[in-house]
Amino acid sequence: MEQYIVKGGNPLVGEVEIGGAKNAALGILAASVMTSEPVTIENLPDVRDTAVLIQAMESIGTKITRIDRHTVMVNASNIDSMTIDDGYIKKIRASYYMLGSLLGRFGTAQVALPGGCNIGSRPIDQHLKGFRALGAKVEVSRGMISAQTDALVGNHIYMDVVTVGATINVMLAATLAVGKTIIENAAKEPHVVDVANFLNSMGANIKGAGTDVIRIKGVERLHGTTYSIIPDQIEAGTFMFAAAITKGDVMIRNVIPKHLESISAKLIEIGCEIEEFDDCLRVVAPRRLSNTQVKTLPYPGFPTDMQPQIATTLALSEGISIVTESIFENRFKYVGELLRMGANIKVEGNTAIIEGVDGFTGAMISAPDLRAGAALVLAALVADGFTTIDDIKYIERGYEDFPEKMRQLGACIEKVETDRDIQKFKLKVG
Ligand code: UD1
Repeated sequence: MEQYIVKGGNPLVGEVEIGGAKNAALGILAASVMTSEPVTIENLPDVRDTAVLIQAMESIGTKITRIDRHTVMVNASNIDSMTIDDGYIKKIRASYYMLGSLLGRFGTAQVALPGGCNIGSRPIDQHLKGFRALGAKVEVSRGMISAQTDALVGNHIYMDVVTVGATINVMLAATLAVGKTIIENAAKEPHVVDVANFLNSMGANIKGAGTDVIRIKGVERLHGTTYSIIPDQIEAGTFMFAAAITKGDVMIRNVIPKHLESISAKLIEIGCEIEEFDDCLRVVAPRRLSNTQVKTLPYPGFPTDMQPQIATTLALSEGISIVTESIFENRFKYVGELLRMGANIKVEGNTAIIEGVDGFTGAMISAPDLRAGAALVLAALVADGFTTIDDIKYIERGYEDFPEKMRQLGACIEKVETDRDIQKFKLKVG
């Protein structure tokens, strides 16, 4: 079984390059089938989720040519099926974007119900409500969602909750609807804006992405484009916390500092120094960090995808911290693993009460989901002795070359498969 093995204790020092945003990439890949002309996507992260979506796109006849590791050319001129029922696709959340894109272009789509990380019940009612408002007949049966219409017609849609997925999905479909669509209470995350910018570069008419009202004037057709995906806010934030928790000094390159403001603000509050440049950030943690309170919120609030990383860091900070999760109800599963490493955390409903301890000890732990898995790697980086982390498939869903990038900053981490590999690592690092 593939695992990471980590020997804790090294502060992270140096420079790290952030890749393209996974969650923007998923929306953009799905949107790229909305034209029959070639589309070139640059700065595409090479992670498992994008690979799965690419496979699903190929299964319906899309031709995808890899120009280099981070650039693909998509040619959707010969799509021969509107059904995505590949067992694989159920594993990723963003499979549902193929509903919006196929429904928009062809007026029909059938996609297996989405999976993704088990961090809560994750309903899709707002997606379905949006498609219905645009005139589609939508049914869920036998594990499949089917949407169909003779013509999509623009409408006024109010989202009952702020949802990234439904905002992007409805935006995709509405791009090729007849007339005007207004999405109110829209999500404002950077990847919503990136997908809108991508669609506009294909000839869509979308205004207001990044605010809570998005206005879309349907166009008849979209054309080819070349587009570069924004840097990954969460990968960047994870390395910022890796610098903080190890009392390191890391320059995080290829980021948009504006997207990281809520993360930077918390790091400064607990005692880090942050230097901001045009497209990079330096995080220095000179001493033991202090406690704080944080609540996850839709953008521009503190991201739920950074909740495990901040909680793990606070578990080693001075005093008592409170972390409240307001987006997903089941996002503290990693706490049990941290307790095994010596943390002192009590979870009550959607709140974690964290009493900072002086140190963690190495243990055998498992990644319960993508971001929690990354947070457990951060814990391992500072734990006394060796930690092995199982179920790294979750981490690989969203982080490209995670151990390599950590190693480049001085971390002692390796991906291993057998007991022999583990012994070899232990002998090497002593
Ligand atoms: C996306 C991200 C995920 C991130 C999350 C919140 C992708 C592939 N995943 O997930 O990494 O943690 O945004 O930033 O981009 N909800 C409903 N009904 C719906 C849809 C959502 O009630 O139809 C609720 C959810 O249960 C949750 C909240 O709305 O409580 C936000 O969910 P949403 O923003 O849609 O998350 P995802 O798009 O699934």
